[in-house]
Amino acid sequence: MPEPAISSTRARVLSGMRPTGKLHLGNYMGALANWVKLQDEYECYFFIADWHALTTDYADPSQIVPNTKDVLLDYLAAGLDPNRSVLFQQSKVLQHAELYLQLSMITPLGWLERVPTYKEQQENLTGKDLSTIGFLGYPLLMASDILIYQPQFVPVGNDQTAHVELTREVARRFNQFYQLDGKDVLPEPKVLLTPSPKLPGTDGRKMSKSYGNTILMTDPEPVVRQKLKTMVTDPARVRRTDPGDPDKCPVGDLHKVFSTPETLAKVYDGCRSAGIGCIECKGWAANALVQILGPIQARRAAFSEKQVEEILEDGSSRARTRAEQTMKHVRTAMQLTSAAEGSR
Ligand code: TRP
Ligand code: SF4
Repeated sequence: MPEPAISSTRARVLSGMRPTGKLHLGNYMGALANWVKLQDEYECYFFIADWHALTTDYADPSQIVPNTKDVLLDYLAAGLDPNRSVLFQQSKVLQHAELYLQLSMITPLGWLERVPTYKEQQENLTGKDLSTIGFLGYPLLMASDILIYQPQFVPVGNDQTAHVELTREVARRFNQFYQLDGKDVLPEPKVLLTPSPKLPGTDGRKMSKSYGNTILMTDPEPVVRQKLKTMVTDPARVRRTDPGDPDKCPVGDLHKVFSTPETLAKVYDGCRSAGIGCIECKGWAANALVQILGPIQARRAAFSEKQVEEILEDGSSRARTRAEQTMKHVRTAMQLTSAAEGSR
C-alpha cells in the first residue's frame, strides 16, 4: 500500500466515531460526506473510538468488535480512502491511553463534571451504571485522541463542541506546566464545524439510532422504499384532496437535501395544490435516496473481511508512529525520560 501523502504544508485534521453499529444517512450527511471532502485539502486522521464504546457498554462488550468492522466498512463505503487518510482503531494505539493517564494528573475533576453531556447522558441511559471513572473521563480520553496527533482542526458536529473546548483547556493547562525547549508540546486545535443539513428520520424527529427511525447506509432499495412508505407527512394532508406544505413535512425535508431542483419544484407545486399524492411524492424521495446509496453500497461490497482487517492494521500502525512522536515530546516535557532518550 502506498504511503499516505503526509505533507508539512497541509493542515492536519482528526475525527472519530464510536462503533455504534451500521451507520445511517444522518451519520453520512452529518459527518462522513464532509470528511470525504476534507481528504482533498488536509492530512486526515479518522478513527473508530472503540474504547469510548466501553465507557457505556463495559458490561457487554460483545458488539464492539463487529461494530468496529461495520463502521470501518461504512467509512470506506462513504469514500474515505485508506491511501490518502490514516484510518485506524483507537485501541490499537496504546499511546492514547498513556496520554490520557498523564492528562488525568493535571485535569481538575470539576472540569469533567461540568461537561454538559456528563449529567445528561447519566440521566438518559438509566439502565446502565455510569458512575465510573471511565465515563467521567470520556471527554479526557477524547482530548488525548485529539492532542496526540497535534491537529489544527477537529471536524465535529455541534454535539461535540463542548468536548473540543475541554480539549483546548487541557492543552493550555499542559502547556502552562510543561514545555519543551521553551515551546508548547500540545497545540490547541480548533473545531471545524461540520455543515449538516437537517435530516429527519421516518418519525419526523432528527434521524438517530436511539429513536429507531433511521435509514441505514446499507439498506437495500426495497427497505428504503418501505421505510419511506411509513414516513410521517404534513398532518394537514388527511385526504388526498387536502393541500399540504413541504416545509412542514419531513419527506419535504428529504427532498430539499437529496432531490434535484426540478423534482423539488414538482413537490412544492404538487403538494400545495394537492396535485400529487403523498405516495407518489415519497416514491420520488426514495428514488433520490437510492441514487445516493447505490455507489456507496457498491463500494462497500468491494471490500473483503480480510481487507478490512488489513486496512485497520496498516492505518493503526501509521497512527502509532505519529502518536509515538508526540509522546516522546510529552514524556520529555514531563521529565519522565532524559532529554537524550526523548529525542531518540
Ligand atoms: N465523542 C465522539 C462521538 O461520540 C467520538 C470521538 C471520540 C471523537 N474521540 C474523538 C470525535 C476525537 C472527534 C475527536 O461522536
Ligand atoms: Fe409531504 Fe410530499 Fe405529502 Fe406534501 S406531498 S405532505 S411534501 S409527502
